[in-house]
Amino acid sequence: SVAAEYNVIDDHLIDSIFQPRKEFSHKGTYGKVMMIAGSYGKVGAAVLATKSALKTGAGLTFTLAPECGYEILQTSCPEAMFFAGGKEHIENFDVDENMTCGIGPGLGTHPQTEKSFLNFLKGYNTPLILDADALNMISKDSKNLKFIPEKSILTPHPKEFERLFGKTDNSFDRLELAREKAKELHVYIVLKDHHTQIINPKGEVYYNITGNAGLAKGGSGDILTGILTSLLAQGYSEEDTCILGVWLHGKAADFASEKYSKESMLPTDVINELGSVFKELN
Ligand code: APR
Ligand code: MG
Repeated sequence: SVAAEYNVIDDHLIDSIFQPRKEFSHKGTYGKVMMIAGSYGKVGAAVLATKSALKTGAGLTFTLAPECGYEILQTSCPEAMFFAGGKEHIENFDVDENMTCGIGPGLGTHPQTEKSFLNFLKGYNTPLILDADALNMISKDSKNLKFIPEKSILTPHPKEFERLFGKTDNSFDRLELAREKAKELHVYIVLKDHHTQIINPKGEVYYNITGNAGLAKGGSGDILTGILTSLLAQGYSEEDTCILGVWLHGKAADFASEKYSKESMLPTDVINELGSVFKELN
Protein backbone atom coordinates (compact mmCIF):
# COMPACT_ATOMS: atom_id res chain seq x y z
CA SER A 1 0.00 0.00 0.00
CA VAL A 2 1.12 3.54 -0.66
CA ALA A 3 1.08 5.61 2.54
CA ALA A 4 -0.18 9.14 2.26
CA GLU A 5 2.10 11.87 3.56
CA TYR A 6 -0.08 12.33 6.66
CA ASN A 7 -1.80 9.35 8.30
CA VAL A 8 -3.70 8.68 11.51
CA ILE A 9 -2.98 5.47 13.41
CA ASP A 10 -6.30 3.58 13.68
CA ASP A 11 -7.32 0.18 15.05
CA HIS A 12 -7.21 -1.34 11.59
CA LEU A 13 -3.55 -0.37 11.15
CA ILE A 14 -2.71 -1.72 14.62
CA ASP A 15 -4.44 -5.06 13.88
CA SER A 16 -2.42 -5.37 10.69
CA ILE A 17 0.86 -4.83 12.59
CA PHE A 18 0.34 -6.78 15.83
CA GLN A 19 1.74 -10.34 15.81
CA PRO A 20 0.31 -12.75 18.40
CA ARG A 21 2.86 -14.90 20.22
CA LYS A 22 3.62 -18.20 18.51
CA GLU A 23 2.91 -21.40 20.47
CA PHE A 24 6.07 -23.12 19.20
CA SER A 25 8.53 -20.51 20.38
CA HIS A 26 11.14 -19.92 23.07
CA LYS A 27 12.84 -16.92 24.63
CA GLY A 28 15.27 -16.75 21.70
CA THR A 29 12.32 -16.07 19.40
CA TYR A 30 11.63 -12.74 21.11
CA GLY A 31 14.99 -11.04 21.03
CA LYS A 32 17.46 -9.51 23.44
CA VAL A 33 16.93 -6.07 24.89
CA MET A 34 19.73 -3.97 26.34
CA MET A 35 18.43 -0.97 28.26
CA ILE A 36 21.23 1.51 28.77
CA ALA A 37 19.94 3.89 31.39
CA GLY A 38 20.27 5.43 34.83
CA SER A 39 22.72 7.41 36.92
CA TYR A 40 22.92 8.26 40.64
CA GLY A 41 19.53 9.69 41.61
CA LYS A 42 17.91 8.62 38.32
CA VAL A 43 17.98 4.84 38.65
CA GLY A 44 14.17 4.98 38.60
CA ALA A 45 14.29 5.84 34.90
CA ALA A 46 16.23 2.61 34.27
CA VAL A 47 13.69 0.66 36.34
CA LEU A 48 10.74 2.07 34.37
CA ALA A 49 12.35 1.44 30.98
CA THR A 50 13.43 -2.09 31.95
CA LYS A 51 10.03 -3.04 33.37
CA SER A 52 8.33 -1.74 30.25
CA ALA A 53 10.60 -3.80 28.02
CA LEU A 54 9.79 -6.90 30.10
CA LYS A 55 6.03 -6.22 30.10
CA THR A 56 6.04 -5.73 26.31
CA GLY A 57 7.30 -9.26 25.75
CA ALA A 58 11.04 -9.29 25.01
CA GLY A 59 12.67 -12.74 25.30
CA LEU A 60 15.68 -11.63 27.35
CA THR A 61 16.16 -8.26 28.96
CA PHE A 62 19.41 -6.78 30.23
CA THR A 63 20.07 -3.44 31.86
CA LEU A 64 23.37 -1.64 31.58
CA ALA A 65 23.40 0.83 34.46
CA PRO A 66 25.83 2.18 37.08
CA GLU A 67 26.73 0.01 40.10
CA CYS A 68 24.68 2.24 42.41
CA GLY A 69 21.61 0.78 40.65
CA TYR A 70 22.52 -2.87 41.16
CA GLU A 71 20.30 -3.73 44.14
CA ILE A 72 17.49 -1.47 43.00
CA LEU A 73 17.28 -3.07 39.56
CA GLN A 74 17.79 -6.67 40.69
CA THR A 75 15.05 -6.19 43.28
CA SER A 76 12.50 -4.29 41.24
CA CYS A 77 13.12 -6.17 37.96
CA PRO A 78 14.25 -9.71 38.92
CA GLU A 79 13.55 -10.98 35.40
CA ALA A 80 16.22 -8.68 33.96
CA MET A 81 19.99 -9.21 34.10
CA PHE A 82 22.28 -6.46 35.26
CA PHE A 83 25.54 -5.15 33.81
CA ALA A 84 27.52 -2.46 35.61
CA GLY A 85 28.94 0.24 33.36
CA GLY A 86 30.48 2.50 36.01
CA LYS A 87 29.99 3.54 39.62
CA GLU A 88 27.51 6.43 39.69
CA HIS A 89 27.21 7.03 35.94
CA ILE A 90 27.85 4.85 32.92
CA GLU A 91 31.30 5.19 31.39
CA ASN A 92 31.53 1.91 29.52
CA PHE A 93 29.15 1.16 26.63
CA ASP A 94 30.53 -2.24 25.72
CA VAL A 95 27.57 -3.83 23.90
CA ASP A 96 27.20 -6.57 21.26
CA GLU A 97 25.52 -5.79 17.95
CA ASN A 98 23.11 -8.74 18.48
CA MET A 99 21.36 -6.82 21.26
CA THR A 100 18.62 -4.28 20.64
CA CYS A 101 19.71 -1.19 22.56
CA GLY A 102 17.53 1.52 24.06
CA ILE A 103 19.71 4.33 25.35
CA GLY A 104 19.06 7.44 27.36
CA PRO A 105 16.55 7.42 30.24
CA GLY A 106 18.15 8.96 33.33
CA LEU A 107 21.61 8.54 31.82
CA GLY A 108 22.88 12.00 32.78
CA THR A 109 25.45 13.86 30.70
CA HIS A 110 28.63 13.40 32.75
CA PRO A 111 31.70 14.10 30.55
CA GLN A 112 32.83 10.45 30.91
CA THR A 113 29.39 9.20 29.94
CA GLU A 114 29.42 11.51 26.94
CA LYS A 115 32.90 10.52 25.75
CA SER A 116 32.18 6.84 26.02
CA PHE A 117 28.70 7.15 24.47
CA LEU A 118 29.94 9.10 21.44
CA ASN A 119 32.74 6.55 20.89
CA PHE A 120 30.20 3.75 21.05
CA LEU A 121 27.96 5.58 18.57
CA LYS A 122 30.81 5.96 16.06
CA GLY A 123 31.48 2.21 16.05
CA TYR A 124 27.91 0.90 16.12
CA ASN A 125 25.95 0.25 12.94
CA THR A 126 22.73 -1.37 14.13
CA PRO A 127 19.56 0.71 14.63
CA LEU A 128 19.25 2.14 18.16
CA ILE A 129 16.43 3.63 20.20
CA LEU A 130 17.76 7.01 21.32
CA ASP A 131 16.00 9.03 24.02
CA ALA A 132 16.50 11.74 26.63
CA ASP A 133 20.16 12.25 27.61
CA ALA A 134 21.40 10.18 24.67
CA LEU A 135 19.78 12.82 22.45
CA ASN A 136 21.04 15.63 24.69
CA MET A 137 24.64 14.39 24.36
CA ILE A 138 24.29 14.12 20.57
CA SER A 139 22.90 17.67 20.54
CA LYS A 140 26.09 19.17 21.94
CA ASP A 141 27.70 19.11 18.46
CA SER A 142 25.75 18.90 15.19
CA LYS A 143 28.62 16.80 13.75
CA ASN A 144 27.45 13.96 16.02
CA LEU A 145 24.24 13.54 14.01
CA LYS A 146 26.03 11.68 11.23
CA PHE A 147 27.11 8.95 13.66
CA ILE A 148 23.53 7.89 14.37
CA PRO A 149 23.03 4.46 12.74
CA GLU A 150 20.53 4.51 9.86
CA LYS A 151 16.99 3.42 10.75
CA SER A 152 17.51 4.36 14.41
CA ILE A 153 14.47 5.62 16.32
CA LEU A 154 14.80 9.03 18.02
CA THR A 155 12.21 9.92 20.66
CA PRO A 156 12.60 13.62 21.49
CA HIS A 157 10.09 15.69 23.43
CA PRO A 158 9.75 19.23 21.99
CA LYS A 159 12.68 20.61 24.01
CA GLU A 160 14.98 17.73 23.06
CA PHE A 161 13.92 18.15 19.43
CA GLU A 162 14.87 21.81 19.59
CA ARG A 163 18.29 20.97 21.06
CA LEU A 164 18.89 18.44 18.27
CA PHE A 165 17.66 20.35 15.24
CA GLY A 166 17.03 23.96 16.29
CA LYS A 167 14.18 26.24 17.21
CA THR A 168 10.98 26.53 15.20
CA ASP A 169 8.11 29.01 15.56
CA ASN A 170 5.25 26.53 15.89
CA SER A 171 4.38 22.86 15.83
CA PHE A 172 3.72 22.88 12.05
CA ASP A 173 7.21 24.16 11.31
CA ARG A 174 8.59 21.66 13.81
CA LEU A 175 6.90 18.79 12.00
CA GLU A 176 8.23 19.97 8.63
CA LEU A 177 11.76 20.24 10.07
CA ALA A 178 11.38 16.73 11.51
CA ARG A 179 10.38 15.43 8.05
CA GLU A 180 13.47 17.04 6.53
CA LYS A 181 15.79 15.60 9.18
CA ALA A 182 14.27 12.10 9.09
CA LYS A 183 14.90 12.00 5.33
CA GLU A 184 18.39 13.46 5.58
CA LEU A 185 19.57 11.16 8.39
CA HIS A 186 17.50 8.10 7.34
CA VAL A 187 16.02 7.78 10.81
CA TYR A 188 12.60 7.55 12.44
CA ILE A 189 11.63 10.51 14.59
CA VAL A 190 8.99 10.07 17.27
CA LEU A 191 7.97 13.63 18.06
CA LYS A 192 6.43 13.25 21.51
CA ASP A 193 3.51 15.52 22.26
CA HIS A 194 -0.20 15.41 23.09
CA HIS A 195 -0.73 13.74 19.70
CA THR A 196 2.68 12.17 19.07
CA GLN A 197 3.85 12.20 15.45
CA ILE A 198 6.00 9.47 13.91
CA ILE A 199 8.05 10.46 10.89
CA ASN A 200 9.68 7.77 8.76
CA PRO A 201 12.80 8.18 6.57
CA LYS A 202 10.55 8.91 3.56
CA GLY A 203 9.13 11.89 5.45
CA GLU A 204 5.70 10.29 5.88
CA VAL A 205 3.87 11.17 9.08
CA TYR A 206 1.71 9.02 11.39
CA TYR A 207 -0.37 10.75 14.07
CA ASN A 208 -1.16 8.83 17.24
CA ILE A 209 -4.43 9.58 18.99
CA THR A 210 -4.21 7.34 22.07
CA GLY A 211 -2.85 8.75 25.35
CA ASN A 212 -3.91 11.55 27.67
CA ALA A 213 -2.69 14.29 30.01
CA GLY A 214 -2.20 11.75 32.80
CA LEU A 215 1.07 11.06 30.93
CA ALA A 216 2.28 14.59 31.66
CA LYS A 217 4.49 13.31 34.53
CA GLY A 218 8.17 12.46 34.87
CA GLY A 219 8.82 8.88 33.81
CA SER A 220 6.20 8.56 31.05
CA GLY A 221 8.81 8.89 28.31
CA ASP A 222 11.06 6.26 29.90
CA ILE A 223 8.23 3.77 29.49
CA LEU A 224 7.91 4.49 25.79
CA THR A 225 11.64 3.83 25.37
CA GLY A 226 11.28 0.42 27.03
CA ILE A 227 8.26 -0.48 24.89
CA LEU A 228 9.96 0.51 21.62
CA THR A 229 13.19 -1.35 22.44
CA SER A 230 11.20 -4.47 23.30
CA LEU A 231 9.17 -4.42 20.06
CA LEU A 232 12.24 -3.85 17.89
CA ALA A 233 14.03 -6.75 19.67
CA GLN A 234 11.03 -8.99 18.92
CA GLY A 235 11.47 -8.50 15.19
CA TYR A 236 8.96 -5.78 14.36
CA SER A 237 10.31 -3.46 11.66
CA GLU A 238 11.44 -0.01 12.79
CA GLU A 239 8.29 1.54 11.34
CA ASP A 240 5.93 -0.99 12.91
CA THR A 241 7.82 -0.62 16.21
CA CYS A 242 7.17 3.14 16.24
CA ILE A 243 3.51 2.87 15.26
CA LEU A 244 2.59 -0.04 17.54
CA GLY A 245 4.78 1.21 20.42
CA VAL A 246 3.41 4.74 20.57
CA TRP A 247 -0.15 3.44 20.22
CA LEU A 248 0.36 0.81 23.01
CA HIS A 249 1.88 3.42 25.34
CA GLY A 250 -1.10 5.75 24.85
CA LYS A 251 -3.68 2.98 25.06
CA ALA A 252 -2.20 1.67 28.34
CA ALA A 253 -2.31 5.26 29.62
CA ASP A 254 -5.99 5.50 28.64
CA PHE A 255 -6.72 2.30 30.60
CA ALA A 256 -4.75 3.66 33.58
CA SER A 257 -6.65 6.98 33.58
CA GLU A 258 -9.94 5.08 33.42
CA LYS A 259 -8.97 3.17 36.57
CA TYR A 260 -7.11 5.79 38.59
CA SER A 261 -7.83 9.23 37.01
CA LYS A 262 -5.41 11.37 35.03
CA GLU A 263 -4.24 13.03 38.24
CA SER A 264 -3.36 9.90 40.21
CA MET A 265 -2.25 7.46 37.52
CA LEU A 266 1.51 6.91 37.63
CA PRO A 267 3.89 5.70 34.94
CA THR A 268 4.04 2.42 36.89
CA ASP A 269 0.25 2.06 36.45
CA VAL A 270 0.72 2.55 32.71
CA ILE A 271 3.23 -0.32 32.66
CA ASN A 272 0.77 -2.52 34.56
CA GLU A 273 -2.04 -1.78 32.06
CA LEU A 274 0.05 -3.03 29.12
CA GLY A 275 -1.30 -6.50 29.85
CA SER A 276 -4.92 -5.39 29.40
CA VAL A 277 -4.05 -3.79 26.07
CA PHE A 278 -2.38 -6.98 24.83
CA LYS A 279 -5.41 -9.00 25.95
CA GLU A 280 -7.61 -6.83 23.74
CA LEU A 281 -5.26 -7.21 20.78
CA ASN A 282 -5.04 -10.99 21.04
N1 APR B 1 -1.20 14.12 26.35
C1 APR B 1 -0.77 12.96 25.80
N2 APR B 1 0.49 12.46 25.98
C2 APR B 1 1.33 13.15 26.75
C3 APR B 1 0.96 14.37 27.37
C4 APR B 1 -0.37 14.86 27.14
N3 APR B 1 -0.81 15.99 27.68
N4 APR B 1 2.02 14.81 28.08
C5 APR B 1 3.01 13.93 27.92
N5 APR B 1 2.61 12.91 27.11
C6 APR B 1 3.40 11.76 26.68
C7 APR B 1 4.36 12.16 25.57
O1 APR B 1 3.77 11.98 24.30
C8 APR B 1 5.52 11.19 25.81
O2 APR B 1 5.26 9.94 25.26
O3 APR B 1 4.22 11.30 27.75
C9 APR B 1 5.56 11.08 27.33
C10 APR B 1 6.48 12.10 27.99
O4 APR B 1 7.81 11.85 27.65
P1 APR B 1 9.01 12.79 28.15
O5 APR B 1 8.68 14.20 27.80
O6 APR B 1 10.25 12.21 27.66
O7 APR B 1 8.91 12.73 29.75
P2 APR B 1 9.76 12.03 30.88
O8 APR B 1 9.39 10.63 31.04
O9 APR B 1 9.54 12.88 32.08
O10 APR B 1 11.25 12.12 30.56
C11 APR B 1 12.11 11.80 31.64
O11 APR B 1 14.01 12.48 30.42
O12 APR B 1 13.37 13.47 28.46
C12 APR B 1 14.01 13.67 29.68
O13 APR B 1 13.95 15.92 30.36
C13 APR B 1 13.22 14.72 30.42
O14 APR B 1 13.97 14.63 32.67
C14 APR B 1 13.03 14.12 31.78
C15 APR B 1 13.28 12.64 31.63
MG1 MG C 1 12.03 11.79 28.47
